[in-house]
Amino acid sequence: MNKILAFAGSNNSKSINYKLVDFTKSLVNDQEVRVLDIRSWDIPMYSIDMDPDQTPKEITELISLIKEYDGFIIASPEHNGGMPAFFKNIIDWISRRSKGAFESKPVLLLSTSPGGGGGANNLKYLIHSLPYQGASICASFSLPSFYDHFKNDEVVGDYLVGLNDVVEKLTDALSQ
Ligand SMILES: Cc1cc2nc3c(=O)[nH]c(=O)nc-3n(C[C@H](O)[C@H](O)[C@H](O)COP(=O)(O)O)c2cc1C
Repeated sequence: MNKILAFAGSNNSKSINYKLVDFTKSLVNDQEVRVLDIRSWDIPMYSIDMDPDQTPKEITELISLIKEYDGFIIASPEHNGGMPAFFKNIIDWISRRSKGAFESKPVLLLSTSPGGGGGANNLKYLIHSLPYQGASICASFSLPSFYDHFKNDEVVGDYLVGLNDVVEKLTDALSQ
């Protein structure tokens, strides 16, 4: 059995991307999935002036978890057409404390938003940028108009077919 670490790059206590991650966990069969809640993390803005001993303990722990786990489900909100500053800052910290942290392991990217774009612009950016951290992006999924397509804590309609499909791509990648 493989170990999958799942989280969302959001510091919103009512994050819809966390709701999507939690539901996606329920679609994964025969794998251990841990949802890591980073919403309350208060991480200082990365600066190259910061010494290694100023690295936040959360960043050190996340790097350890990334090394320990076999695959990842990462959901990201979209802010102003890009990655939220909260999540970008975490990635910047990781990039300076662990080269290629994801070690070519498979990553399933998700995004949702209340609007019709579903965070697809930022997904394109993440597909381009996370491989700089060693992520092997096996699939991505955007859920537009969250409140129309997520009812009673579940993705509904054709989007459920699409989400199951990308989950299968992650489990296939893990079995290779
Ligand atoms: C500063 C800011 C910028 C936003 N920009 C976008 C955007 O470019 N595209 C979009 O689809 N939604 C945008 N939104 C709306 C977010 O999709 C919405 O807040 C969503 O709940 C964020 O996901 P989360 O709840 O998981 O944090 C923006 C929200 C904020 C606070």
